[in-house]
Amino acid sequence: MAPHDLSSFDLSDKPFINLGLDGIVAFSTKKSFIDGQKGELIYAGYNIDTLAEYATFEEVCFLLWNDRLPTQHELDELNNALLAERTLPQAVVSFIQTCDKDAEPMGVLRSAVSMLSEHDGHDIADTQAATISMTAKMPAMIAAFDRVRRGLEIVSPLSSGSTAENFLYMLNGEAPGAAAIKTMDLCLILHAEHGMNASTFVARSIASTMSDIYSAVTGAIGSLKGPLHGGANTAVMNMLLEMQAKGDDLDPVEEVKGKLARKEKIMGFGHRVYKTLDPRAVHLQKMSKQLSEETGHMKLYEWSVAMLETMKSEKNIDANVDFFSATVYYSIGIQPDLYTCIFAMSRVSGWTAHFMEQSDNNRLIRPRAMYIADKNLDWTPIEQR
Ligand code: CMC
Repeated sequence: MAPHDLSSFDLSDKPFINLGLDGIVAFSTKKSFIDGQKGELIYAGYNIDTLAEYATFEEVCFLLWNDRLPTQHELDELNNALLAERTLPQAVVSFIQTCDKDAEPMGVLRSAVSMLSEHDGHDIADTQAATISMTAKMPAMIAAFDRVRRGLEIVSPLSSGSTAENFLYMLNGEAPGAAAIKTMDLCLILHAEHGMNASTFVARSIASTMSDIYSAVTGAIGSLKGPLHGGANTAVMNMLLEMQAKGDDLDPVEEVKGKLARKEKIMGFGHRVYKTLDPRAVHLQKMSKQLSEETGHMKLYEWSVAMLETMKSEKNIDANVDFFSATVYYSIGIQPDLYTCIFAMSRVSGWTAHFMEQSDNNRLIRPRAMYIADKNLDWTPIEQR
């Protein structure tokens, strides 16, 4: 019997349960590498710092899907393919128009992406076409829902421009400035891929059953939505706004200490893999500072820095990607409950890359659970229970 063959074991007798699959390596991948001690993140060979400086989101998409950078011609082709897929099918528009204005944006996005499998005009098995379509349409879905709930007309996409530019244009109905486009593009680059996080694991698990890529992205959106994962960025902003509502003289240090004393988690801190500052947070902190200076609203940034220092000194816990992304999006005027959707419209690139990688070298993902209840109980008739 091979050493990993557990088929003849009774798992209930074996104390090797690993809650949260902490430290388990279940796949090999070319998509990304994280050094949690150094605080290093690499996408398909390129350090995130290099990509933040030189790449566009679309180049990062190509990199994740092809494991190499595009030539100019290939990048032009990808940009054109995305432009051609930005318009939403009427059925999806109608669905968005009927959503309750208080609906959770991530729930709306999840359902709208799921609908695409029926209304996209592509063969459901055409993974490449579906990848381009979802990457192109998710920003349009988010913008459309936000406008509908604000009682505004849905804005059609531009016939040119990047994902970042189009998203801000469709959201606000006016041409965004160069600085806002650059900020959004950088946020999309920083959120595109991150190893075997919960939502990517979901996407790969769905791929492993030989299901379709729309199902994988739909499932991944459901996973990302949770506050321990992508939902943390919205939770960070809600926390900062609650603090702001208490008044300007609030002491952020005492606020953090109070939460820790009450055993509350502080959103935007901690990570399963990083044991130092998340390298994405370094870029987002820089952006947050710059944007706060430009808008003249420094208070939330200054509170954030005080919270960062207090978490470090009190618990030796660092900020993750979600902490400063919240104030970055807030500074460019985006509603807090859309932040996780922005994470999703970037991470779709990583999810789809992993779907393809899993499909190319597939084995059904099927872990075991340790059974901890009774066995072979006698049947009790219902009237005697
Ligand atoms: N605030 C306060 N204490 C914390 C926090 C936090 N944000 N994060 C971890 N800790 C403490 C935790 O209470 C535990 O302490 P103790 O050993 O005394 O019980 C210790 O640190 C280890 O934490 P853990 O929850 O066992 O660690 P984990 O690897 O299971 O969880 C995490 C990682 C991200 C779920 C957790 O740090 C957390 O809940 N953070 C807040 C939510 C958040 O910001 N999530 C975004 C994660 S990064 C982006 C993404 O992947 O989507």
